[in-house]
Amino acid sequence: MTSQKVIDYLSSNQDKHLDDLVEFLKIPSISAIASHHDDIEKAALFLESELSSLNLKTEIIRTEGNPLVYAETEQLENRKTLLFYGHYDVQPTDPLELWNSEPFNPLIKDGIIYARGSSDDKGQLYSHLKAVEAYVKTGTPIPVNIKMIFEGEEECGGHTIYEYTENNPDKLKCDAVIVSDTSLYNEDTPAICYSLKGLAFMEIRVKGPSQDLHSGSYGGTVQNPGNAICEIVANLKDTNSRVLIPGFYDDVIELEEDERASFKSLNYTEDTLRADTGSPGPFGEKGYTTLERMWARPTCDVNGIFSGYTGEGAKTIIPSTATAKVSMRLVPNQDPDKIASSFISYVKSICPPGLDIEVENLHNAQSVMVPRNGAMMKAGANAMEAGFGKYPVFIREGGSIPIVGTFQSSLKAPVLLLGYGLPNDNIHSPNEKYHLDNYYKGILTTAHLLSFASTVE
Ligand code: BES
Ligand code: ZN
Repeated sequence: MTSQKVIDYLSSNQDKHLDDLVEFLKIPSISAIASHHDDIEKAALFLESELSSLNLKTEIIRTEGNPLVYAETEQLENRKTLLFYGHYDVQPTDPLELWNSEPFNPLIKDGIIYARGSSDDKGQLYSHLKAVEAYVKTGTPIPVNIKMIFEGEEECGGHTIYEYTENNPDKLKCDAVIVSDTSLYNEDTPAICYSLKGLAFMEIRVKGPSQDLHSGSYGGTVQNPGNAICEIVANLKDTNSRVLIPGFYDDVIELEEDERASFKSLNYTEDTLRADTGSPGPFGEKGYTTLERMWARPTCDVNGIFSGYTGEGAKTIIPSTATAKVSMRLVPNQDPDKIASSFISYVKSICPPGLDIEVENLHNAQSVMVPRNGAMMKAGANAMEAGFGKYPVFIREGGSIPIVGTFQSSLKAPVLLLGYGLPNDNIHSPNEKYHLDNYYKGILTTAHLLSFASTVE
């Protein structure tokens, strides 16, 4: 049973917890942009200071990359140890003109906080600190050993935390890893995620003339990199949205009937997809439902494509270069390295003549599948029920959290993906938001988990 003092503390401190979150969200800790280096440092120091004020033994782990923040309670024998993970770095804010408020000056309106990082992942990771705060400030003994590790390179494909985890499995040893960086199924339905997609992120660069040319003088006489990149991209998938890279589907684990039935029972509708995306309607690989495409089928998508003149009005040129950034989201058991090298060979093989081409694999992530039937999973589901007032459904997600695969392989502990965000929180987009109700319920869930996990056999 979770102590009533802890529960009362949480309900009477909601305003304080919101104020504290606002301070955290004001720090523009964008990991992809080098000029935000000091803000990354600031966000790490913010967490360090708060964790040490909760009497946790706290350290900033300095490496060549962005700092890791690590904290632990006193580690007592004969009880469960939970390792909490989160990331304090955030995505860039562009296109800035589409935000209705300043991304780093949080706006609170109708029970929702709007700010970059509010859902992904500062708001979610902060729930764990606030749950610990409730125990510490009410003098309630925490019934489990806690370890926390927060990184600042999740959004930019950094390696710091992988290396740290692989080199320090004893320090991070635990009975379960808790990650809150996913989402509820919808506003009324809490969820535990049991599978994340993997990733192979590629950049294709084609180069034609040594500089832009007059398109009248030379058009039709040399290869146009802009046309060529479109031709390459057009040949990545067929008209049924099947990826054409040889061997792409070889290792994919096909959905079993019971999993298809479980997706179906969630009654996902085309209207939800329209409302959440603003897209006119569903589209994707033939033979699969939207949820199957979203959660269990590998994909190949342009993330950015540019060439030539993109400013106002007309400018008649044959561009010198063209670039496409392409991500492949992968499912169990696809191997990102293997897929990346098939992509490179295939793209080179379909590149039109008269060009130089480079294809680079920028970063990868392993897909994840966690067992749904462990005792810790049950404790997590019970905690979500206590926090959100409803037993969670089990879902998969299309996003990636690269370190989770390493936690599984290096720490050999079950991973609990307890999502407190919403699928339409606009993560990575303008007007990212986090519903305060989910923030408070998330904190309560973590508070319950500390007590429920302590009784797991
Ligand atoms: N919080 C997301 C992961 C996520 C997204 C989970 C959507 C569930 C649904 C995470 O911060 C993220 O965006 N990860 C990146 C990792 C990549 C840069 C290697 C991603 O998925 O693009
Ligand atoms: Zn995230």
